Amino acid sequence: MTSDLFIAGMRKMAGAVSVITTAGQDGERRGLTATAVCSLSTAPPSLLACVNRETWVARFVSGSGIFAVNVLSAAQEEIARTFAGQTGLTAGDRFRIGDWESRETGAPIARGAVVAFECRLERIVDHTTHVILIGEVVATILGDGHSLVYLDGNFSTLPRPFSAA
Ligand SMILES: Cc1cc2nc3c(=O)[nH]c(=O)nc-3n(C[C@H](O)[C@H](O)[C@H](O)COP(=O)(O)O)c2cc1C
Repeated sequence: MTSDLFIAGMRKMAGAVSVITTAGQDGERRGLTATAVCSLSTAPPSLLACVNRETWVARFVSGSGIFAVNVLSAAQEEIARTFAGQTGLTAGDRFRIGDWESRETGAPIARGAVVAFECRLERIVDHTTHVILIGEVVATILGDGHSLVYLDGNFSTLPRPFSAA
């Protein structure tokens, strides 16, 4: 089977858009846009993220030992494009877009995110072009807003489900 067919298939899968961030001890921040993020377990709370090994985050995270998953809102498409490398900003300059703060772990947290998970890196699993980051969630910051979604090569949103209440 060709990878083109695989990519065409994956484009049909709607994904919540996150920015995964990390920060070194010298305060240098790095981040990338990602949809390959998934819940792993609830006890302890943990998640995983699949990151290309050539990215800044993959290169920084083993040294920093921390990362955060910032699930973006529909109002944060510019952040998503920036951290996907679509606006020409690289490395720490990407943090000029958006409003970032540092909380429990020091990994950058986006104000206005739907939710942010701060993680302590538990394990890195190598697999071909990518690494799987496994993190224990040490803090969850609940925000408001409507999640940004990526589907068929486009940023989008889903209608909010009606509340039963
Ligand atoms: C919607 C979307 C989702 C993406 N998901 C991932 C992902 O899950 N993992 C990954 O490694 N790259 C993903 N990328 C690509 C990275 O965001 C992109 O390569 C980024 O520029 C990497 O940053 P760096 O190489 O400058 O560190 C995605 C891009 C887009 C537009």
